Amino acid sequence: MLLTIIALGVPLALSLGARVNSEVRSQAQGQADLVAATAADLLSPAHRAELQALARTAGSSVRGRVIVVDRGGVVLADSAGSAQLGSSYAARPEIADALAGHQVQVQRSSRTLGQQILATAVPVIRGRTPVGAVRVTQSVSAVHAAVSRTVLGLGLIGLVVLALGLAAGAVIAAQIARPIARLKRVAERVAGGDLSARAPIEGSREQRSLAESFNEMTNRLARLLGAQRAFVADASHQLRTPLTGLRLRLEEARETGVSGAAARELDAGLGEVDRLSQIVDELLVLSRLGQREQPAEAVSLHLLAADALKRWQAIARDRGITLEHISAVGQQHMASLPTVWCARSDADCALDALIDNALRYSPAAGTVTISSDNSRIEVRDRGPGLDADEHDAVFERFHRGNAGRNGPAGTGLGLNIARELAREWGGDVTLGDRHGGGAIAVLSLPIGATRRHPSESP
Ligand SMILES: Nc1ncnc2c1ncn2[C@@H]1O[C@H](COP(=O)(O)OP(=O)(O)OP(=O)(O)O)[C@@H](O)[C@H]1O
Ligand SMILES: [Mg+2]
Repeated sequence: MLLTIIALGVPLALSLGARVNSEVRSQAQGQADLVAATAADLLSPAHRAELQALARTAGSSVRGRVIVVDRGGVVLADSAGSAQLGSSYAARPEIADALAGHQVQVQRSSRTLGQQILATAVPVIRGRTPVGAVRVTQSVSAVHAAVSRTVLGLGLIGLVVLALGLAAGAVIAAQIARPIARLKRVAERVAGGDLSARAPIEGSREQRSLAESFNEMTNRLARLLGAQRAFVADASHQLRTPLTGLRLRLEEARETGVSGAAARELDAGLGEVDRLSQIVDELLVLSRLGQREQPAEAVSLHLLAADALKRWQAIARDRGITLEHISAVGQQHMASLPTVWCARSDADCALDALIDNALRYSPAAGTVTISSDNSRIEVRDRGPGLDADEHDAVFERFHRGNAGRNGPAGTGLGLNIARELAREWGGDVTLGDRHGGGAIAVLSLPIGATRRHPSESP
């Protein structure tokens, strides 16, 4: 738009400037001719006053100075006053040319005025011979000022048009961008796992069709994910019964008094069944994530950690590990401290996965410390810690890290489930290196947050 205004405005300003210039010139010429024609009969001394009045009228009409000289170049009338009457202007080049019978229009610098002037001189003819001359002088700067005023006016109009154009452009751009921005926000919600988000159908035809396609895609995604979850949940559920049956049969076989290699095989079989049952249970938890109607409550992480210590104490002792709980506050004050908002069973489950890992991957005779703060619980061990490249990978489903592969059997789902559960309530689980060797697992949950559960309708 700026280019258009420049492309149209500049030639217009130039041509207007040229027109103003030529108009001033032709007006001066016209007045000079008029005065010369009238003055032919007024050159005699008897008509001096009339001649003077004629010069003054013409001077004010061209906004310049008009003089009338006789054949010898002596000033007979002057619109600027009587000061120069009687002095000779014969030496002025344009007067000399006019007295020689020529019409002249020149731009020259005036020594008397010290500025550029436009001088127009014409002869006063009587009976074909010049008997005098009329000269009109105008200040060029006045002409320039008139031209600049015109150009400035044009420039201002251009600026107003530009401002209006920009304002209209901004309004149109905002109207086009708004539906796209809304669609982007919905896409971000879907990417964040909220498959109930739908884009509003609005904007241009293309934008509406884009929003419709987006919603269709999200519908399909939600259906597919739902079907997948349902399948995993059903399969896990179906597997539970035969697994329980299998365990009972193996236990019965173990009770029949077998010994030696057969007993060892049966024990190993029982261990495998337990592992399989754990996988099935974990898959069930995963398939229900984000869909359960878990009631939330205010939970003190200090009490949560203290309870976890009680749950895991015996198992730790069996493995020869000292399990301890450090809290910044005494047991009696724990209940009055700030709480987090979550389903208690989810927080328990997430913390259990971290303690389970610490106990599993710690060397015998080691110490595992659970320390609680108002919004986070740390589980510290002196096990092998993490390899440099596995900090992120250990949170992937079924990924077993270095410690996992070289340690007791596991499924590689514990950390993933713990993190998903914590994130359900606006928190997180992280696993890092401990200074001096070992790992620090952290469960953090926001204090006092009362987040709507995803399954609740808005
Ligand atoms: N405290 C820890 N010290 C060292 N490595 C750890 C620790 N906790 C987890 N890891 C690593 O992270 C991996 C993933 O842990 P995660 O709990 O998800 O699975 P897992 O323990 O292998 O199996 P399970 O699902 O039965 O718990 C582990 O295999 C292990 O290599
Ligand atoms: Mg684990």
